[in-house]
Amino acid sequence: MKGLFISVEGTDGAGKSTQIDLLLEYLKAKGVDVIYTREPGGTYISEKIREIILDTDNEGMEGACEALLYAASRAQHVREKIVPAINEGKMVICDRYVDSSIVYQGVARGLGVDAVKAVNEFAIGGVMPDLTLFFDLTVEESVKRKKNMGSLDRIEKESFDFHKKIYDGYVALAESDPVRIKRIDASKPVEEVHAQVLKVLEGLI
Ligand code: TYD
Repeated sequence: MKGLFISVEGTDGAGKSTQIDLLLEYLKAKGVDVIYTREPGGTYISEKIREIILDTDNEGMEGACEALLYAASRAQHVREKIVPAINEGKMVICDRYVDSSIVYQGVARGLGVDAVKAVNEFAIGGVMPDLTLFFDLTVEESVKRKKNMGSLDRIEKESFDFHKKIYDGYVALAESDPVRIKRIDASKPVEEVHAQVLKVLEGLI
């Protein structure tokens, strides 16, 4: 039996991590065979690539280099971890996947959605999530939350405008593929957001 591949997306500070923790707790209590993984990262090699990407010393990194590193990390991750888990009938919860590249590198960095899609098509070999949860939180709210988050990594230090582009990119992407990408109103209290997530998953568990 084939498993289920769910990716989780949103701007930095939208509360993804908290909601993923709650969801994993819920699924495990239900006896669902679920694994958690994240991007960039998820495997030994992909985590090494992650270190290069997020290293604050690498401020001079070109956008094309960044996009290719994310895609490289993903190429390893999808083959080594995601596909085998799906083939074993597991549910895979992946914190960020190809939509992050489309929005962060394609839209916000201005590399172009088509170029980033092309690179990623090669990287993922057609493996797309069955379902994507988009945690929808306006940039103003995200920034407010982030100020409480302590030290920020290289990407998180980017400007407000950059994050606005990311948010708008996600909204456009969600509108273009409403069957796969489900919007979750992340401005609500934690328990309410969790309830929205469970509603979307109804029938799939
Ligand atoms: P991380 O600390 O995992 O952030 P978050 O908790 O918000 O997921 O760092 C990942 C950063 O990399 C995040 O700012 C989003 C960015 N990113 C891209 O720019 N492109 C990508 O393809 C992916 C997967 C992430």
